[in-house]
Amino acid sequence: MRAAVGQVGNLPEPGAGCQPARRISSCPTWFVVLAAAITVGCGASSHERAYEYMPDMARDPAYKAYAPNPVTRDGLTLQLPVAGTVPRGYAPFRYGPGEQEAARAGRELANPLRATPQVMQEGWELYRTYCLVCHGKSGKGDGPVAEKIPHPPSYTSDRVMQFPPGRLFHVITMGAGKMRPYAAQLSAAERWKVVTYVRTALQQLADQPATGQQGGKP
Ligand code: HEC
Repeated sequence: MRAAVGQVGNLPEPGAGCQPARRISSCPTWFVVLAAAITVGCGASSHERAYEYMPDMARDPAYKAYAPNPVTRDGLTLQLPVAGTVPRGYAPFRYGPGEQEAARAGRELANPLRATPQVMQEGWELYRTYCLVCHGKSGKGDGPVAEKIPHPPSYTSDRVMQFPPGRLFHVITMGAGKMRPYAAQLSAAERWKVVTYVRTALQQLADQPATGQQGGKP
């Protein structure tokens, strides 16, 4: 406290120049020059155009994204992606809807995940969010809304027990019969987590960790 009072009372040494604490008051000239330069640079009144430094980039002719374009070969401004382009991190899903395609996905797609505690936990959370309402907590087809819709099958029915993991993945991705697809809600990785959860926890099937082709997003 004493030191602070002492500092306020002390004047800077002669010749100390722009001390940080005194810079503004002791060097006003620079501010005046700078302010004048900015004012002059921006220039002008509302009636006159201001001076522009290198205006080329600011004044290029811009087309609206969806406007016709006389310059491009196909007449479009926003160009289409090159044929065969896929978004980053996107694996194409090469199966259509229906029984035959579901069976083919079952033969060809392998679950890339193991039933680790983390996968099971995340699988449960996704199942609880997206499937439980119809299929029920234990997967018997007895969820809260099951009475009001075409009855979902039990996962332990003879039919669904025959489904390989890839077919469950297909059901979630493309839907099945009256069930809607969930590809828009669940990423491919999330779908595999649900598949792993359903098979391990609800169907009590022990899958071997698989290698090979993995499903993607349609
Ligand atoms: C809105 C209710 C509803 C939700 C939510 C729902 N399902 Fe279904 N699911 C059904 C119905 C209804 C059927 C029977 C469809 C049919 O046979 O026409 C079905 C059928 C199935 C089948 C059997 C398909 C077949 O070919 O027999 C599986 C497997 C399945 N669902 C898994 C899931 C999974 C996994 C989720 C969560 C990602 C889910 N379902 C979410 C209503 C639902």
